[in-house]
Amino acid sequence: MPATQSRAEVLSDVLNGVRVIPVVVIKAVSAAVPLGQALIEGGLPIAEVTFRTAAARDSIREMAQLDGLVVGAGTVLSPDQVETAAEAGARFIVSPGFSSEVVRAARACGIPVVTGAATATEIQMALESGQDVVKLFPAEAVGGLATVKALSAPFPDVRFIPTGGITEASAPSYLAYSAVLAVGGSWMVAGDLLAAGDFAEVTRRSAVAASLASNAPAKAG
Ligand code: 3PG
Repeated sequence: MPATQSRAEVLSDVLNGVRVIPVVVIKAVSAAVPLGQALIEGGLPIAEVTFRTAAARDSIREMAQLDGLVVGAGTVLSPDQVETAAEAGARFIVSPGFSSEVVRAARACGIPVVTGAATATEIQMALESGQDVVKLFPAEAVGGLATVKALSAPFPDVRFIPTGGITEASAPSYLAYSAVLAVGGSWMVAGDLLAAGDFAEVTRRSAVAASLASNAPAKAG
C-alpha cells in the first residue's frame, strides 16, 4: 500500500466508486458467470461471495475472470479461507467479526480486508490492527443508522460498511451519511432469484441499487 494512502482509500480504489456491495450466497457454481454478467449489466460490477457454501471458491474463480467485475470473499473466518479466496482471485476479504489472524493473512496476501464490528470494543480492536474501515454487522439488528451515527462520534476517522438486513428502501439513508463508505446487502442477489435462474431480475434490482448510490451524495450529520 502506498504510504500516502489510508486503508479506506485503498479499499475505495478496489470498490471503484461502487457504494452498494451485493452479498452473495451461491449454491451452484453454474450460476456464477450468469450472476456476474447480470451484475455488470445492472451497473453494479461487484460481488462479495460468501464462504457459506461449497461453491464459493470455484464461483470466485469463475467470476474473477469476468472483465470489469470486482469479486471479493465474504464470511471469511480463517487464514486458510483467506489464502483460498486470494488464490481464486478475490480482490478483497470481508469477515463478519474481528480476527487478527484473518487480518494478518489478508495483509500477507496483499489484499484489503474489512472486519465486522457491532460495538466500540470491536472498532478499537480493528483500529489497533491498523484497520480504519469496518463492516457494521448485523447493521439493522444492532440499531441501523442510529448506531452508525453513535459510533462515529468517538471514531470520526472510521468508515463503515453497514450490512445485514438492509433493503432497497433503507439503503439510501445509510448512503447519505458521510461515515458510510458503502452498504452491503443480498436483496439484489436473493437466493430465490439465483435458484430460479432469474438473472434479469438480478440486473433490474442491481440497476436500482446502483442508482440509489449515485442519488445519495454523502453528507455529514
Ligand atoms: C452478510 O453476511 O453480510 C449478510 O448476511 C448480508 O445480510 P443480508 O442478507 O441481510 O443483506
